[in-house]
Amino acid sequence: MKRKILIGNWKMNKTMQQAIEFANVVREKANEVEKKNIILGIAPGYLCLPILKKLGGSLLTFAQNVHYEEKGAFTGEVSIPMLEEIGVMGSLVGHSERRQYFNETNNTCNLKLKALEAHQMNAVYCVGETLKEYEEGKTKDVLKKQVLQGLEGLSEDYISNLTIAYEPVWSIGTGKNASKEIASEMCGYIIEVIKEKYGEDVSSGVYMLYGGSVKPNNIKEYLDDENIDGALVGGASLEASSFIEMIESIEE
Ligand code: PGA
Repeated sequence: MKRKILIGNWKMNKTMQQAIEFANVVREKANEVEKKNIILGIAPGYLCLPILKKLGGSLLTFAQNVHYEEKGAFTGEVSIPMLEEIGVMGSLVGHSERRQYFNETNNTCNLKLKALEAHQMNAVYCVGETLKEYEEGKTKDVLKKQVLQGLEGLSEDYISNLTIAYEPVWSIGTGKNASKEIASEMCGYIIEVIKEKYGEDVSSGVYMLYGGSVKPNNIKEYLDDENIDGALVGGASLEASSFIEMIESIEE
């Protein structure tokens, strides 16, 4: 049986002091569920990564973004070796806010995924359609392109251990979560796309997350779905109490 995954994406929220307070409250619960087949992670701002590593108990840490070059003249960027040194698990790649505000494309996502593979670090590859694309009925076309272009050139071994987050842009931070039916259909579709190109041995290993206005009161219905292995959660991961509530609602 696949493990359940809950990853909090803090975006540009929380100071280091606030991260310490969060870790001090969540640590015990995180340690408790480690034995229960649940993977818990937080993608905080870079400065908070060492804090969560140190104080977060079994909470795994993820960067929200990485640069694909090892080093060089890229002012303001953070490289994979820098993250490796502090022991982070991996990074989100292609979050819709990165695509929307920082011009990330399927091509730059592909470079980042390849760089993470080269360092044997995990990736949570984010895909999802905009409201306009959704209304025009283009969701599957968009997802197929994001998936196939993003994964181009990765080894089958790496793809078979990849985590992909389906996050419809219209559901992020809006309170308008996608229905369980939509989330299930699209997560299933993404696995089909991977199966068609790489075969079932590869596609069956991929973890699918749903993200977009996931809250303590709706997380369970997504995770109960056979096509969905976990959730990527923004707003509701910021308060320790609501993060703990979500853990409790997905515990067996
Ligand atoms: P949200 O964000 O849970 O606040 O909608 C999800 C995400 O951006 O990953």
